[in-house]
Amino acid sequence: MFAITTLQTEFSETELLADHDIVEPLVAGGVRCHGGFDDCGQYVSPRTKNRWPAIDAWEQQRVEQFSTPIIDVPLETWPENFPNVEQSKFLLRHGAPEPTISALTRIGTVEGFGGMLRHLPVPDFRHCFEEDIRGTAIAHIDHGLFEAHARDESGFGDLAGHDRMWFVARDIAFEHPVTDDQTARMLVRMGIDLTPKSAAQLAELRQAAEAQRVLPDDIDFTLEMVVGRMIGLLLIEISAFHGFRWAEAVLGDTELVAGDGSAARLVSYIRSDETPHVAWLRTALSEMRDRTWVGISGRRHPGLEMVSLLWERALSDSLLLRRKENINFIMREVEDALAGRGDADDIVEELLSLGSVVRLGDGTVVDPVDTSAVG
Ligand SMILES: [Fe+2]
Ligand SMILES: [Fe+2]
Repeated sequence: MFAITTLQTEFSETELLADHDIVEPLVAGGVRCHGGFDDCGQYVSPRTKNRWPAIDAWEQQRVEQFSTPIIDVPLETWPENFPNVEQSKFLLRHGAPEPTISALTRIGTVEGFGGMLRHLPVPDFRHCFEEDIRGTAIAHIDHGLFEAHARDESGFGDLAGHDRMWFVARDIAFEHPVTDDQTARMLVRMGIDLTPKSAAQLAELRQAAEAQRVLPDDIDFTLEMVVGRMIGLLLIEISAFHGFRWAEAVLGDTELVAGDGSAARLVSYIRSDETPHVAWLRTALSEMRDRTWVGISGRRHPGLEMVSLLWERALSDSLLLRRKENINFIMREVEDALAGRGDADDIVEELLSLGSVVRLGDGTVVDPVDTSAVG
């Protein structure tokens, strides 16, 4: 029914998980990480031997079949990191490294959540869309793509993935600043609950999510959940690039942090591992947007409308809700780090003068765009 690219578009899970040959493994801070270096000394991301050619082929085929542009999320739509590079360096210079340390711990922890992708229930995608999905990214989501992504984020076997790599970068730069105990307490402060959920709690969570669904009841709720998660993940992946820029600039300052720039280099390797994550998610979501969705009743629903509904909700969640919580959480971390110091108020005032986040009369902080949107 479609003009099909001559490139290979069907891959086994083993193929999608295959590594390039490397001549030297990546070892940082004594920890063996995934990935490694080729014979030119170039860093090579894990599990990209076939994953990259696959993503390129799926995207090429999508364009041949639907002639639509790929879903795009410009990085510029995100507010800058708080504290920004200048603000973080200012805090380091004034003997307050804690907010930077906790930011690195937080990023590593969130990366580790990516490991849960492999447990996400997925529908039988073949029945979700009117058009054939053979040889698409959609068809490989639960046949290698989620698994490769999960391994990249949370490691596999003995090899450290992004979660531990961020902790290693932190420990190189700040010479092992936190104990596991402090990390656990920080996660509690952030409202991150790592205790395993019971079956009853999971059922409750699903019910709550179902009550807030945005797609027609006719659409399989498992499909809505998985596409919603993929969109949320893509937004996190893209906004994470701000975090990488920030971390590479702060950790690359050899006068302010230890490790002669090796922590920043490690972050640059993590950043290159993220590129295929963004690429496959954009292609798979574009494939879904281009297709006609088939409801439980057999009714047809335009993919553009389905993806747009989920997209709008994810965007407002990530940009407004979490951003506001995050900057206020971080501001408290900064105040904690300065607690008891006579110069605390001056430091906070100068800190805020170096960035765009502003403090309101009630002590909470907001983005300037936020205030205009509300007022
Ligand atoms: Fe990652
Ligand atoms: Fe990622």
